Amino acid sequence: MNILVVGVGYVGTTTALLFAELGWNVVGVDSNERKIQDLENGVLPFYEPGLDTLLKKHIESGKLSFSTNLSEAVKHHDVIFICVGTPSMEDGGADLQYVRQAATTIGASMDDYKLLVTKSTVPVGTQRQVVQWISEAQSQSIPFDVVSNPEFLREGSAMHDAFHPDRIIIGSDTEAGAEQLKRLYRDLECPYLVTSPATAEMIKYASNSFLAVKISFMNELARLCDQLDVSISDVAEGMGYDTRIGRSFLRAGIGFGGSCFPKDVKSLLHTSKMLGEPLRLLQDVVAINETQYIYVLERMRKRLGSFQGKQIAVLGLSFKPGTDDMREAPSLSIISYLVEHGAIVQVHDPVVRMPAPLLTDNLAQFADLQDTLSGADAAIICTEWPEYADADWASLKKAMKQPLLVDGRNMLNRERLQAVGFTYVGIGNG
Ligand code: UGA
Repeated sequence: MNILVVGVGYVGTTTALLFAELGWNVVGVDSNERKIQDLENGVLPFYEPGLDTLLKKHIESGKLSFSTNLSEAVKHHDVIFICVGTPSMEDGGADLQYVRQAATTIGASMDDYKLLVTKSTVPVGTQRQVVQWISEAQSQSIPFDVVSNPEFLREGSAMHDAFHPDRIIIGSDTEAGAEQLKRLYRDLECPYLVTSPATAEMIKYASNSFLAVKISFMNELARLCDQLDVSISDVAEGMGYDTRIGRSFLRAGIGFGGSCFPKDVKSLLHTSKMLGEPLRLLQDVVAINETQYIYVLERMRKRLGSFQGKQIAVLGLSFKPGTDDMREAPSLSIISYLVEHGAIVQVHDPVVRMPAPLLTDNLAQFADLQDTLSGADAAIICTEWPEYADADWASLKKAMKQPLLVDGRNMLNRERLQAVGFTYVGIGNG
């Protein structure tokens, strides 16, 4: 079977590389010519550890190639993965224009049976719409199946997650469609769950939303822990030993970001409101997340008196380590808040460069950590990059005007920082 992957962003590129590595011939198609050129030259359009090696390997092996011509590519492939973006619209709903465009072009171009697989995160009921869009675009009736196959990989560990999934969900109306997709994943050992397409779509939203619930629960609890002089990190560890709760996604901090959680929580909320069953818990998850960074900054302000004229170092820009993705990164809200309140902000990130137009007299980026902290009245860690864990804080302290460190990710050891003279402020650690 030949595989076509439509949309070569994070999910599409990783999917294409996974199937090339599993031995299939894969073509990645995208309307963005620059992206396709880069990929053809073995250059990833984003930072993701490990992916570039595999990209070069499969360009050389001939198992993976790229194109900008979807209509032509459709004719030569049996299975088509739709991996295009579904960004948030203003009302929180998911914008399906790219899914629709892909479905319409596929419908108009296909000349024999195709298995279409939706990997883009799409609202419940979209598979049915895709079927309709394809049928409407066909000039004559040609059989096809549309299967929902949500993706659960994380940025920063995309390759590992793709090769070691916790589960593969296949939402299919037909047994044949589900079996064909299973065959494609041939070597991956994990539970396979076959459901209806709508259920598969819901599993994706429910999974991301539930993880967001865990984080917001811990962030809200952290605020209480600060009042009670209790350590949220110890609370999380104590809870995590209970296998019913699990250890993961209990880290309190400055809130969740990225291209998925904020968008998917809002999209599910939008669906629930449209159907008259608003998910109240998720409304609170959003509200807690959108105020968490302010809560953290106000703890800093309490110690500084005011942000006016203060020099603040912001350490980490990406929404989490291991990626250069700044979409919905809490660091951006933190920087805006600080600048709005009169601070002079100096940022650092080991990977991300702040876009030049965003830099102003009050906002500069430094490549070196020591330079970033030089003369600072306070610093805040926004991303738990290993560079910050390994830094020589005793020497960095000497560069600062005031040794105030707000650890927005609870990643450093309080005692060690205090021992070298820092005023250390964690989140939910009293
Ligand atoms: C998330 C999901 O984890 C993936 O399973 C899913 O496939 C993906 O979204 C998607 O829908 O495409 P990702 O956005 O890459 O993956 O990042 P996560 O590792 O889940 O982290 C999301 C945010 O939560 C980050 O800002 C992170 O710092 C924050 N987080 C995570 C916490 O604040 N505390 C935690 O304990 C864990």
